[in-house]
Amino acid sequence: MCGIVGYIGNKNCVPILIGGLKQLEYRGYDSAGIGVMNHNGVHVVKSVGKVAALETKINGSPFRSTLGIGHTRWATHGVPNERNAHPHVNNAGTLMVIHNGIIENYVEIKKTLSAEGFRFVTETDTEALVHLIDSFIRRGYPLFKAVRAALSQVKGTYGIAVVHASEPDCIVVAKNGSPLTIGIGDSENFIASDVSALVAHTKQIVYLEDGDIAEIRRDSFFVNDMTDQRIEKEVQYITVKLEEISKGGYPHFMLKEIMEQPESVYNAMRGRLLYDEGTSKLGGIDEYADRLADSKRIIISACGTSWHAGLVGEYMLEQYAETPAEVEYASEFRYRNPIITKDDTVLFISQSGETADTLAALKETKRKGALALGLCNVVGSSIARESTAGVYLHAGPEIGVASTKAFTAQLTALALITLMIARKKRLSLTDGQTIVRELQMIPDKIRTILRLNAQIETIANKFADARNFLYLGRGYNFPVALEGALKLKEISYIHAEGYPAAEMKHGPIALIDENMPAVFIALKDSTYEKILSNIQEVKARHGKIIAIANEDDEEIDNYVDYSIKIPRTIRMLNPILSAIPLQLLAYHIAVHKGLNVDQPRNLAKSVTVE
Ligand code: AGP
Ligand code: GLU
Repeated sequence: MCGIVGYIGNKNCVPILIGGLKQLEYRGYDSAGIGVMNHNGVHVVKSVGKVAALETKINGSPFRSTLGIGHTRWATHGVPNERNAHPHVNNAGTLMVIHNGIIENYVEIKKTLSAEGFRFVTETDTEALVHLIDSFIRRGYPLFKAVRAALSQVKGTYGIAVVHASEPDCIVVAKNGSPLTIGIGDSENFIASDVSALVAHTKQIVYLEDGDIAEIRRDSFFVNDMTDQRIEKEVQYITVKLEEISKGGYPHFMLKEIMEQPESVYNAMRGRLLYDEGTSKLGGIDEYADRLADSKRIIISACGTSWHAGLVGEYMLEQYAETPAEVEYASEFRYRNPIITKDDTVLFISQSGETADTLAALKETKRKGALALGLCNVVGSSIARESTAGVYLHAGPEIGVASTKAFTAQLTALALITLMIARKKRLSLTDGQTIVRELQMIPDKIRTILRLNAQIETIANKFADARNFLYLGRGYNFPVALEGALKLKEISYIHAEGYPAAEMKHGPIALIDENMPAVFIALKDSTYEKILSNIQEVKARHGKIIAIANEDDEEIDNYVDYSIKIPRTIRMLNPILSAIPLQLLAYHIAVHKGLNVDQPRNLAKSVTVE
């Protein structure tokens, strides 16, 4: 998920690796490390926090070599500390590995290898891969073959780079699901998870595909597939300039993060869907699955965008899991002495895992004996540590202050939790399988929506001068209306309100005139006819209407000024799709107004004060 760089040549690799890691900083990370090979084995230096801290640590030390690898980590398994930072080394100190991604079956691998005497010293999933490769090397496999043999036993995603003291002139790399490229130089070669770390050194790039394993030497490289067949790779000449590719080519983190959603949503569900059983498996809460399913009540507590995700979770749980659900602002929950019993489960949702109110509500819940589960994006964060058990979102680092990909990952995780509970209750196998299948189709549907970016920008430009906005939706799409309004408020400073569409008549309708844009989430579900009536009420008062509608809905164009058409899915998953055009709408309005999209005024990424 984060960054990889590597160098083999005749120069000292250390400044090249540090420079490369700095180019990858935009991806977000929590710790960094580099490892080099020299005559007496592999040497590793790691540090929590910024690459600059790593650099300071190295400065002045005799740490140099003509072969090395570097990594920025964004923890998925194990807190961000020095020990868990990469490179990871085998017990003999002869092998080092850096890894981006997730090894899904690391628990089983760890169990087997521990029994064989391998000593695990970190909490990471990556370390299982290190010892697995080592186990093949101990059986006499050369490095390249050992890596291939190990990867054939691994489930998950990876971009890896591996170095072993017995073959001090090569780096073996492999890719599955995480990006990896080779940069070709003159008597030197490079690797990187993204070309921004390479452009300072070379323009000749080989892009690896999933399933590729490559051996890289000073003057040569080759790439094989998993069946050991040679693959002829095309060398591509990149023309981009360094300035063009910071933030991964996007002008803002927020846009980058919006665009990452096919992958982040996929990562939130990857390895967690069991089609044959029509259910989900969430390792972090497995132990508590029965207690969760037996809960008399599920309370969801969170703030801001995470609270909106909680509202969608409430609808999901009540529709499928037959458990009464309530959603509470953490700030209210902690102070009003809520009635919580041991039969309740309270689910705390937080991207950062550091929100003060949510953390305090969590502590209060534990005091009262209810099961306290966390749904966090940041591994090892306070809420993740304090909760009894939890589910990580695996959305990757979210840097833009306005939450986007964390929201859709939260919705995905809530759908998985709902499915798990529902299947323990009365949801049939075939209905469970339908949900699994629909979830699997979501990333592609998000891709379809993201292709509407230019259309949404055009609409946004027309409304950038509006002073107020109304967002209206019903059922599952009511929380999406709230989230759409919050996004707009946060980054464009336009006043926006989200309402359940039917509430409009009870007050907000007084605001409507030709200057008031109303955004309707009007998808073809059981509330469609009703929302059409609400649309007509706005139209009759000359309001301007933007509708998020389904692809096959032509009728809606008779009533609205602009429509943004998105694919269909089942009701519970609609919010994952309908939120995205609203993120883009807010984004383009703010950009049109020339505002600081990534760091809007007065806001902080994590609110650690009450
Ligand atoms: C969302 O765009 C926000 N900036 C904010 O509402 C945020 O969701 C809220 O502060 C909660 O943060 P958390 O998920 O990190 O707990
Ligand atoms: N899963 C690995 C870890 O937690 C790699 C994370 C990353 O991609 O940075 O250490």
